[in-house]
Amino acid sequence: MKRIIIEGNHSLTGTIKIGGAKNSAVALIPACVLASGELTIKNVPNISDKDALIEILNLLNVSVKEEDGILKINTLKIKNNIIDEELSNKLRASYYFMGALLGRFKKAEIYFPGGCNIGSRPIDLHLKGFEALGAKIIKEDTKYIITADNLKGANIYLDFASVGATINILFAAVMASGTTIINNAAREVEIENIAEFLNKMGANIQGAGTETIVINGVKELHSAEIEVIPDRIEAGTYIIMGSLIGKNLIIDGVNPNHLTVVLNKLKEMGVKLKVTDHQVILNRTSNLKAVNVRTSVYPGFPTDLGQPMSVLLTQAKGISQFEETIFENRMGHVPNLQKMGAVIEYERQHATFHGKCSLHGAELIATDLRSGAALVTAGLIAKGITIINDAEHILRGYERIIHKLSNVGAKIEIVEV
Ligand code: UD1
Repeated sequence: MKRIIIEGNHSLTGTIKIGGAKNSAVALIPACVLASGELTIKNVPNISDKDALIEILNLLNVSVKEEDGILKINTLKIKNNIIDEELSNKLRASYYFMGALLGRFKKAEIYFPGGCNIGSRPIDLHLKGFEALGAKIIKEDTKYIITADNLKGANIYLDFASVGATINILFAAVMASGTTIINNAAREVEIENIAEFLNKMGANIQGAGTETIVINGVKELHSAEIEVIPDRIEAGTYIIMGSLIGKNLIIDGVNPNHLTVVLNKLKEMGVKLKVTDHQVILNRTSNLKAVNVRTSVYPGFPTDLGQPMSVLLTQAKGISQFEETIFENRMGHVPNLQKMGAVIEYERQHATFHGKCSLHGAELIATDLRSGAALVTAGLIAKGITIINDAEHILRGYERIIHKLSNVGAKIEIVEV
């Protein structure tokens, strides 16, 4: 087990450089199997989810060269092997191989994906989308065998604007015959990045980033190059840390347009921040105002920042209401924050914060990736020592977090226990 240890209350000053977006990279890597040739992905974040996806590519006999955040992926000798349960289970994004292998070979054999335990997270919308395109699905316990004689364009409506289902259907449809329309598609900026990559490979996709995506099927896809967009969730997490304990802390390499709702919410709380076209500069704000936060699909307040944002709510004077609308089980950080002295009442997807609370160090457990990020945030402002167990979760999505925070003055280390 990995454990993060933080001595709190040291100002963060200097520059934190933001990496490539996890949720984009974890779809761009599987997207490569749709093409025959050499694919280049730049600005890939150094996170453990990326390593797990490379393991899957290796299993498929795809060669991967990695240097300085650039992946060169050669699919010329690809074999459509079964993706075993252990690999499928390592992360959520393994499910992108369902759509990608189905799109390329008309067959995918893979197990139910892993990922953070933040709700039941079914994949019914992905599967219904594949079926609409003509696929047949056999489920053997947790294994899925998805096959199609022919994939044919269809008019698909998603009951919920799911990020994963939108991308997976895109993958399956890109070489289907005719036109596919995804209605009520997710509008996350990562989807635009993925559609751009597919179009560079020769696909014909319009409307990515809006609620209607139109895909005109093409015969085959070829070599291409793409750069991963900046990680808005990583940036948002460090922006929240800067609001709490920054001293001219510069968050660099951000696209502020991807964080409009978050930055507006911080301004509403009274956070002192300066925004340029690629940086956000922050100073600790001591008299934060209570606000209400409700997560929702893009462009709403991102569910992935709800947990780090909770720490800011513990420091605002008055009562803040928080509502998580996407996942049923995203309050794993709350009992931990209570242990540190935060006054929070919560029930399922609602929490009421009574601020301002003085936080003290405690021994905590990271229940999932973003709850782990919230605990690191809390540890940075707490009096004394904070110990975060099960810190592996955090490394799945925050590249070199210990290095990035130490570099700006945090007293933080990670140990193996
Ligand atoms: C992705 C992100 C995750 C983010 C989430 C919402 C990746 C790898 N993960 O997760 O970081 O928190 O978007 O922004 O990109 N649902 C169904 N049936 C389905 C699919 C989804 O009921 O077939 C439900 C889910 O249970 C959840 C909601 O829809 O309640 C949103 O899920 P979705 O947008 O699909 O999230 P993920 O793709 O799992």
